[in-house]
Formats: sequence, structure tokens, C-alpha cells
Amino acid sequence: MLLSRLAGWQPELWALLALHGGLALLWSAWLKLPRWWWPFQVLALPAALALLRFELPPWVFLLVFLLLLLVYWNAGGDRVPLYLSSRATWAAVEGLLPAGPLAFVDLGCGLGGLLGYLAGRRPEARFCGVESAPLPLLISWLRLRGRPNCQVRRADLWQVELSEFQVVYCFLSPEPMAELWRKARAELRPGALFISNSFAVPGAAPDLSVKVGGRQRLLVWRM
Ligand SMILES: C[S@@+](CC[C@H](N)C(=O)[O-])C[C@H]1O[C@@H](n2cnc3c(N)ncnc32)[C@H](O)[C@@H]1O
Repeated sequence: MLLSRLAGWQPELWALLALHGGLALLWSAWLKLPRWWWPFQVLALPAALALLRFELPPWVFLLVFLLLLLVYWNAGGDRVPLYLSSRATWAAVEGLLPAGPLAFVDLGCGLGGLLGYLAGRRPEARFCGVESAPLPLLISWLRLRGRPNCQVRRADLWQVELSEFQVVYCFLSPEPMAELWRKARAELRPGALFISNSFAVPGAAPDLSVKVGGRQRLLVWRM
């Protein structure tokens, strides 16, 4: 096996790693982690040990940690990491927008892909992205700076007053949905749309559910 040749591990170490892998699997199942997490749990320790063989200088680890921190800034506090709406989702969101001028916000706009797409398709509308993770913020600002109907704000989504928008879009995680729904209900005007990509609001059935390709779906509430 490539790993063992690379690392020159003894059979005793393999036995320990097998034990660790088994325990990691049991732990993952007990915690009811999604299946795609399980291989990561099993491989984390052998990968870390294999990496030690390369005797990388400590600053490499610090650099990787800092890069991850700049991207996944909100994974710890809000429990919202970075993953992106698909292109099929962009088109489905476009299909939900009311005709005419409107103000749209993407709460946690990531790399700004959705905003760039919509701003190009709907020049009469105004698009705003809110982001607090430094690297995604920089990338979306660079991507969207030439678009006159698009603005990226460095802000915490919880500090944004929603009443100025007719459409609020978010693709976050299960964690903030109940609180965000309370905020949307308190601030959005009657008739405004609240669109959540994939994540439901506990106890509030959407008015519309649009299946998009892959694992994403749009849940839509009209205020
Ligand atoms: C799953 S990504 C979605 C990106 C983009 N909206 C899309 O659909 O492609 C969620 C984004 O929300 C950002 N985010 C999470 N909590 C936030 C907060 N409190 N304030 C601002 N942005 C936040 C994350 O940094 C991340 O970029």
C-alpha cells in the first residue's frame, strides 16, 4: 500500500490504526454523522501520521490553519461553513424574482457567484451581498466591483436591517434558521420573499418548495 511504503509503518501501528478506524466508525454512527463524514473520521489519524514523515516546517501548518480560518471564519461561531449555490440554483432563484425593480440580499454571499449572475440578468434590480469571512469577502468584492447594480458589504448578517429588501436569500446551515426566521418575520415587509437554499425553518412550512438539481432545493416563504 502506498501509505505504508511511504511511511514504513510497522504492523503494530497498522493494528492501532485499524482499532482507531473502527472506534471512529462507531463514534460517527453513534453521533449520527452524515455518511460522507465517516471516511474523514477514519483517515484523519493515518493522514496526520503520514504527513509527519515529510517533516514539514511548523509554519506550513500555521499557514494552512490561517488560510482555512480566513475562508471558514463562520464555521465555529455561526456553524456556517463555505459551500456554494449551484448554477442550477442561480437559475431557479432568478425564476422566483418578481418583475421590475427590487432590492435583493444574499445573507452570507460567499464568493458572490449568485449575485454576479443575477445582477447581469436583472440590470434594473439592486443586489447586495453580506459577508464576514475575510477571504470570501475579498473574492466577492473583486468579482463584483465592476457591476453598478451590485454591492458587497463587510458585515455580520445579524446586524443587517432586512426591511430595505424585497427578496432575502440565504444558504447557511440548520443552526441559524430558527433565529433568522424570527429576524425575517420582525423586519421584512408584507409581500417580501424569504428564500432558504436547502435548510428548513423549524416549525414553519414554506409556501413553496422548488426542487433544484443535485442536493439543493429552494424553500420560499412569502411574508
Ligand atoms: C454556505 S455559504 C453560501 C454562499 C453563497 N450565499 C452561495 O449561495 O453560494 C454561507 C456563507 O455565509 C457566510 N456567513 C456565515 N455566517 C455569517 C454571518 N454571521 N455574517 C456574514 N456572513 C456569514 C459564510 O462565511 C459563508 O460564506
